[in-house]
Amino acid sequence: MAKLKLITFGCQANEADSEKIAGVLAQEGFELTETAEEADLILLNTCSIREKAEQKVYSLLGTFQKLKTQNPQLKIGLCGCLAQRDGVRLKDRFPYLDLVAGPGALIYRIPEILKGGTAYPVLPRPKEPLPLYVHSPRPRRGSTFKAWVSIMEGCNYFCTFCVVPYTRGPERSRPPEDILAEVQELLQQGYKEITLLGQTVNAYGKNLKPRTQFAHLLRAIDAVAGGEIRVRFTSSHPRDFTPDLIEAVAGLKSVCEHVHLPVQAGSDSVLRRMRRLYTREEYRAKVCALRRAVPDVALSTDLIVGFPGEREEDFQETLTLLQEVRFDSIYAFKYSPRPLTPAAAYPDQISEEIKTERLNILLRLQGEIALEQNRRRLGKIEEVLVEGGPNSKMGSSASGRTRRNQLVHFSQEFFVPGDTVFALITEAYSHYLKGKSP
Ligand code: SAH
Ligand code: SF4
Ligand code: F3S
Repeated sequence: MAKLKLITFGCQANEADSEKIAGVLAQEGFELTETAEEADLILLNTCSIREKAEQKVYSLLGTFQKLKTQNPQLKIGLCGCLAQRDGVRLKDRFPYLDLVAGPGALIYRIPEILKGGTAYPVLPRPKEPLPLYVHSPRPRRGSTFKAWVSIMEGCNYFCTFCVVPYTRGPERSRPPEDILAEVQELLQQGYKEITLLGQTVNAYGKNLKPRTQFAHLLRAIDAVAGGEIRVRFTSSHPRDFTPDLIEAVAGLKSVCEHVHLPVQAGSDSVLRRMRRLYTREEYRAKVCALRRAVPDVALSTDLIVGFPGEREEDFQETLTLLQEVRFDSIYAFKYSPRPLTPAAAYPDQISEEIKTERLNILLRLQGEIALEQNRRRLGKIEEVLVEGGPNSKMGSSASGRTRRNQLVHFSQEFFVPGDTVFALITEAYSHYLKGKSP
């Protein structure tokens, strides 16, 4: 059998895509290997969300080029968002590349490209429906108990900092029947948790005929799953976080009490120039409505510091937003100018020093807030899906995640990954909890 070394960068959508790539190539006779030296094909599933993500790809490419001089049979390819963004130009820069293919639906064309049919990525066409799961090669899933289910591709929002609409193309949703067939299959295979994925997952259904809504899909999935599995979804756009969706999260047993709701910034002037299409107060009102309906909901968010023109007082508004909302966790990034995006050309770029300083201040504040939030879990009993075995660095015998998506380490019990167990929370830290059997 031919051997495939597959390296994934970027978000969960890319992880899901990699499982699909592995599935597509399994049909072509490839099995996965960890070792680059024994691979016949090395594929880098790339990300271009920030410059750092790209740099990692280029440095690895250099390493693999050396392998290719020793073994001329070796094929090297790039897929994913960077491949889509730069397309043909990558072949000019790295002439030894054998394959360049974009993300999402373009994955299914990799075999054709490998056979020399289509050399370069084509932009996803808006009207082209997504390939049906029921008729596609099955993904080679990395876990036997947790599964990604991509329910839509692309994004129509065009936030001024973000490259995703240019790499993943316009928003396209999968038909509900196809998603339900996939969920049903996962249930039969004994999966315990599914995460519905989309760049703006809660915008689901807008392009479908008949038009449908994300909350409807959640209800249909809950009806199939019957409360037996956990359902998560990410990422939500605040604009599409509707009262109907809040009601679904509150009412459906399988839907976990965790919402990832990227806010990006706390200042209205920055939000406007980011083209996020909501104000700070509108965002806060959604959070209030959600918490009223699901009092124990965990909230996480994404934040960018140092967006062009972000003044000190704008940044202070991001800090006060954190104090007011009190997120359970955040992902914070320094603004990185991206080719193709409007904000990259804004004249008032912020220096690296200021970005680093603001990021550190933000993370320090969030560390304190998260610790206070986590201390409120002490003494509670939480359902944990075990994901990891013993971890000597953490001094733990097993670890897993609560329905609120918090990491729990056990030190006494040797649970098996995939088990659903209960934990009495005994210790709280900024980024994890410790627990034992109640
Ligand atoms: N679709 C999701 C986010 C996808 S990208 C959403 O709309 O929320 C994940 C995160 O990366 C974004 O939420 C944003 O915080 C960050 N990000 C995107 N572009 C960035 C850039 N140019 N510089 C820094 N961070 C960026
Ligand atoms: Fe990017 Fe904005 Fe779309 Fe999210 S909503 S993927 S941040 S353009
Ligand atoms: Fe990166 Fe593309 Fe995801 S740019 S974050 S891999 S959508």
